[in-house]
Amino acid sequence: MKITIEEAKTKKMKPQAGTPLGFGKYFTDHMFVREWTIEDGWKDGKIVPYGPIEMDPASMVLHYAQETFEGMKAYRAKDGRILLFRPEMNARRFINSNRRICMSEVPEADFVEAVRALVEYEQDWVPNEEGTSLYIRPFMFASEAAVGVHPAASYKFVIILSPVGAYYPEGVNPVKIYVEDEYVRATKGGTGFTKCGGNYAASIAAQVKAEKMGYTQVLWLDGVERKYVEEVGTMNVMFKIDGEIFTAPCDGTVLPGVTRDSIITMLKDWGYTVKEEHLAIDDLMDAAKNGKLEEAFGTGTAAVISPIGELNYKGEIATINDFKTGDLTQRLYDTLTGIQWGNIEDPYGWVHDITKMK
Ligand code: COI
Repeated sequence: MKITIEEAKTKKMKPQAGTPLGFGKYFTDHMFVREWTIEDGWKDGKIVPYGPIEMDPASMVLHYAQETFEGMKAYRAKDGRILLFRPEMNARRFINSNRRICMSEVPEADFVEAVRALVEYEQDWVPNEEGTSLYIRPFMFASEAAVGVHPAASYKFVIILSPVGAYYPEGVNPVKIYVEDEYVRATKGGTGFTKCGGNYAASIAAQVKAEKMGYTQVLWLDGVERKYVEEVGTMNVMFKIDGEIFTAPCDGTVLPGVTRDSIITMLKDWGYTVKEEHLAIDDLMDAAKNGKLEEAFGTGTAAVISPIGELNYKGEIATINDFKTGDLTQRLYDTLTGIQWGNIEDPYGWVHDITKMK
């Protein structure tokens, strides 16, 4: 893939050191854009000044939501190296999402090279304060101007970058989670395993409801029986019950998280039994009552490892580990972030120095 570069004439002020970055509020000077048409396939990639994208009001994404996205991060190591974490996993998941939504696929090597090239070009934007990173948001949408439901004849693949801190205002402190028993996120045969905008649009009503009640996010139950725990709004979820780790299997309704996969690998290496099984919410609440629910945490690129301190299911409250971050949760957080920021040895070959990826 050829990539052309058009440099921005004016550059933005970068957030000053010490400014709380929050999440997804600042965007860098450039973005990556590549177009696909049914006649010509993929065109050359372009790094261009960050700015509005001109769209026809009939662009199909605006009507039928043919859109997919990814979330990943670039980290600045203490020695100045800029590291990507398992970018090929995001590339493969993007392909799977696009297949389900009937969009053309971005070849894995092109996806990784586009991310690498843009991050390298914008490397001054990778923040260096503790806990900060450059969030990478690749996305793709149907740009064909047409009314009528069918796969579009043209798409745009775009990547934007945002220097970020913690996703939750709580930082790495425990969050309160509301178990959603009315709305559903996914059912088998649907799009639950993809990262498509529609999944998140459908989740907002539950999120608003939970926030009104003082909860950070919702824990989704399965869409058929509303009985088994699946995932939390923007992260996969794991429970330590009587020494074993439970998490929902990736069998169609759960997002196959890159952080989820990494944590499972680490846990198994540390000798833990990890059960990728359907866990009933009633069993989970019973485990909490009987003192067997030792720890609970979410895993995700944006959320990293987020301890869960409280669950509310139909008004019944389970406080987990006295609302404190558990030892295993902390160890996972320290090890994962240590690898991601290049502070500890990476035994898995997960991190890639962008200068060595060409
Ligand atoms: C991520 O973890 O990267 C996500 O995409 C979650 C969210 C910000 C939608």
